Amino acid sequence: MDWENRPRCDQLPAWGQLRAQSQAWAKGFDVRAAFAADAQRTARFGQEAPELFADLSKSCIDAPTEDLLFALARECGVEAHRDAMFAGQPINNTEQRAVLHTLLRAPAGAPQADAAWDAALAEVHGTLDAMLAYADQVRSDAAITDVVNIGIGGSDLGPQMVVRALDAFAAPGRRLHFVSNVDGHEMASVLRRLKPESTLFLVASKTFTTAETMANARSALAWFRQNGGSDVARHFAALSTNVEAARAFGISNIFGFWDWVGGRYSLWSAIGLPIAIAIGAERFREFLAGAHAMDEHFSSAPLAANLPVRLGLLDVWYRNFLGYTSRSIAPYHSALARLPAYLQQLEMESNGKRVDRHGAALPYGTSPVLWGEPGTNGQHAYFQMLHQGSDVVPVEFIAVREAAHDLPGHQSALLANVLAQAQALMQGKADAGGHRDFPGNRPSTFLLLQALTPRSLGALIALQEHRVFVSGSVWGINSFDQWGVELGKVLAKDIEPRLASGDASGLDASTAGLLQRLRG
Ligand code: F6P
Repeated sequence: MDWENRPRCDQLPAWGQLRAQSQAWAKGFDVRAAFAADAQRTARFGQEAPELFADLSKSCIDAPTEDLLFALARECGVEAHRDAMFAGQPINNTEQRAVLHTLLRAPAGAPQADAAWDAALAEVHGTLDAMLAYADQVRSDAAITDVVNIGIGGSDLGPQMVVRALDAFAAPGRRLHFVSNVDGHEMASVLRRLKPESTLFLVASKTFTTAETMANARSALAWFRQNGGSDVARHFAALSTNVEAARAFGISNIFGFWDWVGGRYSLWSAIGLPIAIAIGAERFREFLAGAHAMDEHFSSAPLAANLPVRLGLLDVWYRNFLGYTSRSIAPYHSALARLPAYLQQLEMESNGKRVDRHGAALPYGTSPVLWGEPGTNGQHAYFQMLHQGSDVVPVEFIAVREAAHDLPGHQSALLANVLAQAQALMQGKADAGGHRDFPGNRPSTFLLLQALTPRSLGALIALQEHRVFVSGSVWGINSFDQWGVELGKVLAKDIEPRLASGDASGLDASTAGLLQRLRG
């Protein structure tokens, strides 16, 4: 299957059939009626996958429609594209790079036929071993009480999300801080609480050129020296593919990775060092193993029993055929508080593209807007809109069966709430069309983990990575570049000296006016 040069997805037969299907639903698909009509619905739309169970039965979809989506995936060559990714082909065509975050969680194995592959895997494991040995060394160093990760985007969101999620596994007595913003308030408020002799700074940047990270790293180094710190080799480490730049900055303790690890897919690499410091080497390996189990599922399960495929195709159905433009993420576990922010980058930086992989404009929608907050908090904020607003927003509930605390009563209340919200969205409640009327028929997916562990979190993250791959593959876009972040960076560089000089020449009138006010 020539997935690279196949017709655009909207020109394929299955797309037309899906269009007809969605038009046949003009009077509206009703998930309540679908349950009544199909006794097999719960079984058909329940899906076991490594470390988690997914209930898709409350989605706005039926079996014939899902079959058409599988046909679309086949016509788009999603499986061949997936295999090309796993095989290390340069599928990130605009940057001529392979996309091999899956290799970072592949176990060290018996030699394969391909010597280059074996060498890459050996290098991955050599780097992993060194990184984990260092993490355990930091963990056993009682003098280091605070670790500050300086990074942004993928060099911040993933590690921060995971460190928080796995807090129950962290050794007590060591604080991890994450500084990302160029806004000095963030760095200043962290530094206020630190002492150079008990602090380790991790400068995390794939490129080692990102303006925010470099500004924060410079401030951290200056603070360290001004406050009597001298042993930079002991108190600073760099996590980067740009070893030369890290060295030039003055850091000698460097953990490297490779250009085939995308920023938003980098928490499995040296960028995961704060995670390893928090939970230890053994648990970091479990985290990798959970992700690897999901990789195996994604690469081998038939489409109809392949959870990342089913979720990614559902995303396409919602976005392109039912017109839903966003997805709300509702993790019912407060340790997953940063999951929505992490998924925002994963989905929106990957699939927020309006041209195909060859640069041609696309006539259909791509990435939905992702947003959300942990439940039950969201229920007391924006769930009003989800239940009774004028737009339909599919919700992804993430529930965890076992709690990591022993406070009585809380977990059953939490689980009752997540069940009740999914039920209420679907069932609704008729009340003569007035203020108390709930229309129902509002779709949700339900992901269920037995417990929040390194292994299950690894699987959950890999699931989300692969579902983003699937929808991006159908849309025919390159999900692995991010050119859309460049223009703002260039303009900020041009504007910064103007704030000092007041030179507004060549600026549009609005920006020039604001510049003068900001200088005033
Ligand atoms: O925001 C753009 C981006 O390139 C992200 O993709 C990336 O995660 C982030 O910046 C940080 O990049 P780096 O790790 O190179 O500092």
